[in-house]
Amino acid sequence: MKRNRIVSIVFLIVMIGGVHAAVGAEESCVSCHKKLSPGQVADWAAGKHSAEGVTCSTCHGDKHQSENDAEAAVLPDETVCKGCHETQFNQFTRGKHNYGWKAMNALPVTPLEPDELIEGGKGCGGCHNMGIKSEEEKKILRDQGYRYQNNSCDECHTRHGFFLKEARDPKACRQCHMGYDHPQYEMWESSKHGTRYHVQEEEKIPEEAGAPSCQYCHMPDGDHENHTAWGFLGVRLPLPEDEQWAADRVTILKALGVLNPKTGEPTARLEAVKQLKLARLTQERWETLREEMISRCKHCHSEKYARNQLSMGDSILQKADRLMAEAINIVASLYDDGLIEKPENYPFAYPDLLFFMRTGGSYIDQVLCEMYMKHRMRTYQAFFHINPDYAYWYGWEMMVKDLGEIKKLAKTIRATAKN
Ligand code: HEC
Ligand code: HEC
Ligand code: HEC
Ligand code: HEC
Ligand code: HEC
Ligand code: HEC
Ligand code: HEC
Ligand code: HEC
Repeated sequence: MKRNRIVSIVFLIVMIGGVHAAVGAEESCVSCHKKLSPGQVADWAAGKHSAEGVTCSTCHGDKHQSENDAEAAVLPDETVCKGCHETQFNQFTRGKHNYGWKAMNALPVTPLEPDELIEGGKGCGGCHNMGIKSEEEKKILRDQGYRYQNNSCDECHTRHGFFLKEARDPKACRQCHMGYDHPQYEMWESSKHGTRYHVQEEEKIPEEAGAPSCQYCHMPDGDHENHTAWGFLGVRLPLPEDEQWAADRVTILKALGVLNPKTGEPTARLEAVKQLKLARLTQERWETLREEMISRCKHCHSEKYARNQLSMGDSILQKADRLMAEAINIVASLYDDGLIEKPENYPFAYPDLLFFMRTGGSYIDQVLCEMYMKHRMRTYQAFFHINPDYAYWYGWEMMVKDLGEIKKLAKTIRATAKN
């Protein structure tokens, strides 16, 4: 009730601000656009906004009125939505999605890629259009001739219906949480959890039957602040207590360019990791997030069962890190012995996982990158999304194969160098 009142008050202010302009403009926008893009207008008309008097001009302004001034239309950013949905806006700003655009731009590989894939929103930018952009970031977009992608709110409840039912469906997450390095959708879908969800959708089992969706576990009670304990890169500070694991972590952090490979000192990249929350920075923060997740599992499983399941995810990560560190050390020794030349833009003569496949042509580095980005990710993400095949055949087993290939390639490189 309280929220509805706030919405009404804000809405009243908007209306008082320009009753005549708004009503008149609404008619012209709708009637002209009905001819131009009828599907778009029908979508808006089918959503809640149209019934509530939220019109085209509420979001796009009324400066553009004809065929000749379309560029005068405002392309609304998240603050426009905030005017009426402050709760969701504030939750979003605290969540991990709000870092999407900045994290993408922080990677050294990003400036090397065609801008269609970044600012144009067709590759990285198609998924990382998550996060409120600063004026400076918007200017960079516009200067490159890209006008859209000003709003992250339409990523799950898409325009112009902005339907709640769409956002509640796990398919709303699928465009981004799929594929190469984060196939959460595929893993969930073919797990017991996803199977239950789909069978329930087809009304073959009752509504009360437990069938957790992505949203159930990651957006409890519609909370837009999403965060997990391990996160994407599966690294955390401080280093683990186990000595071998700590050493392997140091090796991985060097290959992420966060620690200087010679001195072990933190580099400038550590600042970015901290600012963009690429890793949880304290044990306490990690534990808080883990406990929140356990409390979700407890709706349907015993606490002991849930803890046991998640801690197996942690221990496979430790074992995956062992394989990873061994592989990194093999490649690093080739750099050390001058058998791989440091690409000009690499900060160190050391493998750098954040250049992805842009390794200056070194194939062994590419295999290493795939081992990290694709196979290590799958190994542990599959434990958390309860998918046996991803955990073994697409994850762990492929890491073992990558290590085999790296050993073979290193041997060949050394043998050819001697001749
Ligand atoms: C007389 C017809 C007409 C009227 C009235 C009209 N529009 Fe448009 N609008 C257009 C045309 C034409 C375009 C450009 C379409 C294209 O490039 O394919 C456009 C484009 C837009 C765009 C996209 C801008 C962009 O940068 O791509 C928005 C948003 C928009 N109109 C909203 C509105 C709103 C809001 C109103 C009412 C205040 C309105 N329109 C009134 C014809 C009209
Ligand atoms: C609740 C806010 C909201 C309302 C109401 C709204 N829009 Fe939009 N519209 C958006 C957002 C958000 C975008 C995407 C902006 C971006 O990509 O930067 C957009 C984009 C557009 C575009 C350009 C992209 C495309 O898909 O063609 C057009 C044209 C457009 N709107 C027309 C309309 C018309 C016509 C109406 C009324 C029938 C309307 N909008 C009502 C929020 C709104
Ligand atoms: C002028 C106020 C206003 C603005 C601006 C506005 N909304 Fe809304 N929105 C509403 C109202 C009113 C409702 C209906 C609330 C209800 O029925 O509980 C609504 C409903 C919604 C819903 C739920 C739809 C459903 O199917 O139940 C979503 C999602 C939503 N808005 C998203 C957005 C986004 C995203 C933006 C910005 C692009 C936006 N809104 C801008 C007022 C606004
Ligand atoms: C298919 C959609 C998609 C594409 C394409 C994509 N990403 Fe991502 N990216 C994601 C998702 C989803 C996550 C979060 C995954 C997770 O937590 O498991 C992510 C995570 C990241 C992270 C880590 C963020 C963090 O804090 O953990 C970085 C950095 C990143 N991506 C950069 C890039 C760059 C650079 C590109 C292009 C070269 C790219 N991504 C391409 C969807 C995508
Ligand atoms: C990651 C996907 C995602 C993004 C991004 C997202 N939402 Fe949502 N939104 C959802 C889901 C899921 C729900 C339904 C939650 C529930 O079950 O009640 C929802 C619900 C809503 C509702 C309806 C709340 C209600 O109970 O009536 C509003 C309003 C809303 N979102 C606004 C926004 C705004 C504003 C933004 C941008 C700041 C945004 N959302 C970004 C997924 C998203
Ligand atoms: C049964 C609950 C549950 C469901 C359903 C679920 N997840 Fe997760 N998710 C988890 C757990 C547990 C973690 C790991 C949390 C940790 O690090 O402690 C996780 C982690 C993640 C991460 C961080 C990287 C990773 O994979 O470890 C992303 C991103 C994610 N989930 C997205 C999704 C998406 C998208 C869906 C739906 C396709 C989904 N999840 C379904 C429980 C769930
Ligand atoms: C438009 C693409 C897109 C969509 C749609 C999307 N996400 Fe994400 N998600 C991302 C990106 C990009 C990141 C990484 C953000 C960053 O760089 O920190 C991310 C991060 C996350 C994380 C945080 C993982 C961590 O690091 O702790 C969770 C959980 C998550 N998403 C769940 C969801 C769920 C659930 C949905 C559907 C309701 C969803 N996402 C829809 C792109 C998307
Ligand atoms: C909304 C209810 C619900 C929630 C929440 C939920 N689960 Fe489940 N889970 C189920 C159901 C139902 C099954 C299928 C039970 C069976 O295999 O007989 C299942 C199956 C599993 C399985 C596979 C069991 C097997 O025999 O293959 C694991 C592991 C699991 N869940 C772990 C978790 C974890 C960890 C969490 C929290 C991150 C969680 N679940 C959250 C309902 C839920």
